[in-house]
Amino acid sequence: MAEKEKTFEEITTHLQTQGFVYPGSEIYGGLANSWDYGPLGALLKNHVKDLWLRHFVRGIEYNVQIDPAIIMNPKVWEATGHVANFHDPLVDCKYCHARYRADQIIHQQKPDLDVDGMTQDQLNTIMQSGEIVCPSCGHKEFTPIRQFQMMFKTFIGVTEDKQSEVYLRPETAQGIFINFKNVLRTTRRKLPIGICDIGKSFRNEITPGNFTFRTREFEQMEIEFFFKPGEDDKWFAFYKDNCKAFVEKLGLKDANVRFRDHEPAELAFYSKATTDIEYLFPTIGWGELMGIACRGDYDLGRHMKYSSQDLTYLDPEDNTRYIPHVVEPSFGLDRLMLALCCDAYDVEELTTKDGKKDSRVVMHFAPELAPYTIAVMPLSNKLNDKAKAVYDSLHEDFDAIFDTTGSIGKRYRREDAIGTPLCITYDFDSDNDGAVTVRERDSMTQERVKISELSNYIHSFLGKNRVK
Ligand code: GAP
Repeated sequence: MAEKEKTFEEITTHLQTQGFVYPGSEIYGGLANSWDYGPLGALLKNHVKDLWLRHFVRGIEYNVQIDPAIIMNPKVWEATGHVANFHDPLVDCKYCHARYRADQIIHQQKPDLDVDGMTQDQLNTIMQSGEIVCPSCGHKEFTPIRQFQMMFKTFIGVTEDKQSEVYLRPETAQGIFINFKNVLRTTRRKLPIGICDIGKSFRNEITPGNFTFRTREFEQMEIEFFFKPGEDDKWFAFYKDNCKAFVEKLGLKDANVRFRDHEPAELAFYSKATTDIEYLFPTIGWGELMGIACRGDYDLGRHMKYSSQDLTYLDPEDNTRYIPHVVEPSFGLDRLMLALCCDAYDVEELTTKDGKKDSRVVMHFAPELAPYTIAVMPLSNKLNDKAKAVYDSLHEDFDAIFDTTGSIGKRYRREDAIGTPLCITYDFDSDNDGAVTVRERDSMTQERVKISELSNYIHSFLGKNRVK
């Protein structure tokens, strides 16, 4: 079996055709760069979340999960610096009005310049120098830089004035920091403690794109891990190892994953170290899936100052009082899913039993992540009721699909294309031997399994294929 080289466009087209992802608001002509997950995408998302919860919440004794609100008191974002600093430097081409982020367009055209450390004045000088070309029309004149607030603003209550202005959270992390004291008090735990959250975040991105890679509404899975100052290196290494183990459980190919330590110049001023996990996407190249950051006492310190609340911790071990330090592993769920789909997608060339050339699209998801674990199918429509009874006995325990249309070969191909690891066929022998044929997606091998043993068989298949 040979594999064809795959492209990003081919994969994202496949995801839309199959029903993993739909264009957002499609019947109204769409909404640029917004996407809805269909039934397959929603199942895949559930499974990635389940794995994250198993690995990081149930799997790490110090960790608990919370579910804070998306809309918080706007002072939260003053404290964190988002109101003052969460801006993008925007310019428009004076001729075609195409809009760009100044730092990005300069970086693309002058890769030797270190744009990250530049002030707005420095970026402006380069944009006005006549050396930067508009990629869409070729002219070289741009408007001065305007800072564009990336937090979505809305209003609570009936009046739309400054007092009722609130923001949609741009990260889940701050709902954790502001609940640090609540969690410690109500769980009666000691440090170290990790507080975990999965939820939606919103950023008014200027340059969304690459399908679901960069969107304005996305889901994060974040942990803030609080510990005694001085233990930063230990817990940073602990989470680097754990994030690596998690990525291995996802089944991403080693060659497509890398850890990238931030250079000192890239680090936020309060961060001692940050490492990103990046994935090599077809066509678009390396992209960040998540970051692990040492955040010191920055966030709790800022919230103490702005809320005037005491967020220090009295250590019962040595009776000292301090602001805990934090390590933050922050995953983007949508990007992980996109990476999983790119990694799983293959077009395999096959030779059939009678020597003919054939091919199949197959999504090689790790079995526990695949949207459907099993597809149950009758060999002939005459067997629909009996096959349906098998399906009915399994679909509360496993994500299952019942498929009666088309030849059995076509149905296998359909399931391969969405990554279903096991196809279960009820045939004309099933009445006699009380068994069905189970066909495995990757090897395409088939075996006969007693119907009474199916549930155990599927559990054991999932167990065998799970990365521990
Ligand atoms: N609390 C830290 C934080 O939010 P971040 O690097 O801005 O850090 C963490 O975001 C992760 O969230 C990223 O690694 C990425 O996977 C995901 N993410 C950020 N912005 C995104 C966007 N516009 N679309 C999709 N995912 C995004």
